[in-house]
Amino acid sequence: MRVTDTSDLWWKSAVIYCLDVKKFLDSDGDGVGDLQGLATRIDYLAQIGVTCLWLMPFYPSPGKDDGYDVTDFYGVDPRLGTHGDFVEVVRTAKDRGMRVIVDLVINHTSDRHPWFVEAKRSVDSPYRDFYVWRDDPPPKNQQNTVFPGEADGVWTKDEKSGQWYLHSFYEHQPDLNVANPRVRDEIAKTVGFWLQLGVSGFRVDAVPFLLEVPEGAEMANPHDFLRDIRRFLQRRSSEAMLLGEVNLPYEQQVLYFGANDDGQELSMQFDFVAMQRLYLSLVRGDPAPLISALTARPELPVEVQWANFLRNPDELTLDQLSEQERQEVFEALAPDERQRVYGRGIVRRLPPMLNGDPRRIRMAYSLLFTLPGTPVLFYGEEIGMGENAEIGGRAAVRTPMQWSGEPGGGFSGAPRRRLASRPPSDGYAPEHVNVADQIEDRGSLLHFFRDLISRYRISPELGWGRFDLIEQDAPAVMAHSLTADVGRMIALHNFGDSPATVRFRLEGEPEGVSLVDLLGAERVDVGEQHDVSLELPAYGFRWLRVSRPGDGRLT
Ligand code: GLC
Repeated sequence: MRVTDTSDLWWKSAVIYCLDVKKFLDSDGDGVGDLQGLATRIDYLAQIGVTCLWLMPFYPSPGKDDGYDVTDFYGVDPRLGTHGDFVEVVRTAKDRGMRVIVDLVINHTSDRHPWFVEAKRSVDSPYRDFYVWRDDPPPKNQQNTVFPGEADGVWTKDEKSGQWYLHSFYEHQPDLNVANPRVRDEIAKTVGFWLQLGVSGFRVDAVPFLLEVPEGAEMANPHDFLRDIRRFLQRRSSEAMLLGEVNLPYEQQVLYFGANDDGQELSMQFDFVAMQRLYLSLVRGDPAPLISALTARPELPVEVQWANFLRNPDELTLDQLSEQERQEVFEALAPDERQRVYGRGIVRRLPPMLNGDPRRIRMAYSLLFTLPGTPVLFYGEEIGMGENAEIGGRAAVRTPMQWSGEPGGGFSGAPRRRLASRPPSDGYAPEHVNVADQIEDRGSLLHFFRDLISRYRISPELGWGRFDLIEQDAPAVMAHSLTADVGRMIALHNFGDSPATVRFRLEGEPEGVSLVDLLGAERVDVGEQHDVSLELPAYGFRWLRVSRPGDGRLT
C-alpha cells in the first residue's frame, strides 16, 4: 500500500458523518433545517475531522418515512433548498477536504411519485411495469414487511385494477420493478445526475430488497444489476463509491461485494453483525462476542471495506443476535418497552443507553475508531446527544442538532410548534448537551472526538491494516493490532468496570522498538524480551503506535 493508495481508495480511511439536512440547521426560520444552514456548518464538521458527509434523503417527499419515500429522484425538497444550494454545499465541503455521498433510495418510490400515480391509472399505462403486481390475492399468512405491525403484509390491493402491488416496506412505498430495463435506466440516470452535481458516491438503501426479482420476471442474476450500477458509476467517476445497507449474515454479505464473482458490486457495507455483537460485549463487560464477529469476518479483496457504526438513523437492530442475547441487551439498554420497536430494535442513542457514563461512552467510541474498517458517525454523536423518548419510534433518535443551550438548541428560530422535530427535555436537553458549551470546554466529548479523529487520520493502518488479536490474559480486555506496510497500531480496550493489567509480548518486532501512546503523553516501556505490561482503568483504553527504529513516522 502506497500513500497514494489511501487517496485513491479514500473511503478506506474516511470519517463518514451521516446527517439529515432537515434536522441540522434551519437558516430561514421555517422550522425545517436546510442546505443553506448546513453550508454554514461545514467548517464545524471540518474541525471535528469529518472527511465525508452522508446526506440522508433531501429529495421531494410527502415525508411519511422521513424522506425515504421519494417523489422525484432528481429533485430537492423545496423546504430544504434548491439544486443551487446543494451544489454550494458540495463545493464548500470539497474546499474543506470533505466529500459528499447521498442516499440512493431506489428499492421503492413514494406512492405519490408520478410513476406510481401514472401506473395506477390503467393496467396499460407505460409505467405499470415500473412496479411489481400480482393478480391473485396473496396467501393468508403473507410475508411481513420490514416494519412488522405497520402493514398486513408486503402486498396491498389496488382497488381500481383489483391487482396487488408489492411493498417491502410501508404500504405507501411500492417496490420498483428492477427487472424492467426502463427502471434500470432511470436508476442509472439518477446515479449519473448526482455524480454530475459533485457527489462522491452513494449510501445505497435496502440493497437485498432492491435485488429481489419479482416472481416470474426474467432476470438471470439480480447481482448483475448491482454490478451494472457499479460499472456505470465507475465509468462516470473513478473516485466514486457505493456504501450499501445489507443487514445479513457475513456469508451472504460477501455476495454483495461481488467478492465471489468476477466484477465488483458494493465498495463498502455496514457491519451489522459486529455492531450487534459489540453491544452484547458492552452489556456483558466481555469482549468475547465482538471478537467472535471480528474473527468470523470473511476475507475480502483490498478494494472493499467494512463500515463500522454504533448508531445510525434507524433502530439499533438486534435481529442477528439469538433470542436470549437480544433479551439480554434489551433488558440492559432498553428496559422500557417504549424504547423498543419491531421486536428487534432499540430507539435510543448511545449515551443514555450507557447511563451517561463518560468512561463507557469514550471507550465505545475509541473502539469504533480502532475496529478494522471505516467509522460512520450519526450527527450529534460527537457531543453525546440523547434521544427524545416522548417522540417514540425511530424518530426519537432523529431530533434536531443541538448547537446551543437555548430550549430549541439553536437549531431554528421558528416557534416550537413548527419545528421539524423537538430536542429532548431531560438530562440530554440542549441546556445540558450542546456544541457551543463543548467548544469552550477542553475536556468535553467534542474535544475528545477531535483528538481521536486527528490520531485516526494519521494512522491509515486502522482502515487498511490486517486485524490480529493479541494474546494476553485479562478477560475483560480486547487487545488487537492493525498492521499495514505503513506501520502498526495496537489498541487496548477494557470492557470491564474494574481496572485490569494487560501483559503481552510484542511479537515479530525489531530490536529498539518502542510504543508511542497516541492519546496521552505517557511513554510505554517495552522490556528486553519485548514484554509489555500496563494498567488500564475501568473502561480504559490505549492506542499504541509501534515505532520501529528509523521508520521515519511522525507521531
Ligand atoms: C432503510 C432505511 C430506513 C428506511 C427504509 C425504507 O432501511 O435505513 O430508514 O425507512 O430503508 O426506505
